[in-house]
Amino acid sequence: MQIKSAEFIKGAARPEGYPSDNLPEIAFAGRSNVGKSSLINVLVNRRGLVRTSATPGRTQMLNFFSVNEQFTLVDLPGFGFAKVPLAVKKDWGIMARTYLENRANLKAVILLFDIRRVPRDEELQLLDWLEELDIPTIPVITKVDKVSRNRRGAQMRPILEATGLPQEAFSFFSALTREGREDILQRIEVALAC
Ligand code: GTP
Ligand code: MG
Repeated sequence: MQIKSAEFIKGAARPEGYPSDNLPEIAFAGRSNVGKSSLINVLVNRRGLVRTSATPGRTQMLNFFSVNEQFTLVDLPGFGFAKVPLAVKKDWGIMARTYLENRANLKAVILLFDIRRVPRDEELQLLDWLEELDIPTIPVITKVDKVSRNRRGAQMRPILEATGLPQEAFSFFSALTREGREDILQRIEVALAC
């Protein structure tokens, strides 16, 4: 897929605020700091389109980006940041669940996992919701540059165990080396065509 244009449309917390153009949509979900915004920037070749941050838990809204004027990428708020107040954690659950339940034009969710971390409740909760709502899921392992190639298998074991997904289900990605970019774009293209 060729990226010709990418632009920020708007941020929204509730369905009334979602864009009303009904273009097919791909959402990005995962723990705070896992690299959602960085992945979107690499996919669309725009270093600064989505703000990335060393301070997790900054993005508290859904941010919508239009690509090629043909489809929309959605940066969902990150979850699981320990220092976030409980009220915000609850808001996250409601915001994410509301979006997933109501977005008819949602074609797939890209769910990110850090190669160095064992998935926890929120990731598994999200996986359950996606399955329950019958939303196609593209699992992506991020920050693979942090681990040497021959450690990958061992690092993957707890992730495979926790998620119950086979290794082949995952795409491997690094925002640093851009490994995995083409693979993920291809999977997005397939999801958009369904
Ligand atoms: P929230 O918006 O807080 O939910 O975080 P996020 O998931 O959008 O993460 P973000 O893209 O802002 O990245 C968080 C930090 O991880 C930043 O310092 C990034 O530079 C870094 N990072 C993201 N992807 C990679 C990667 O593939 N490799 C390495 N080494 N660092 C990465
Ligand atoms: Mg972000």
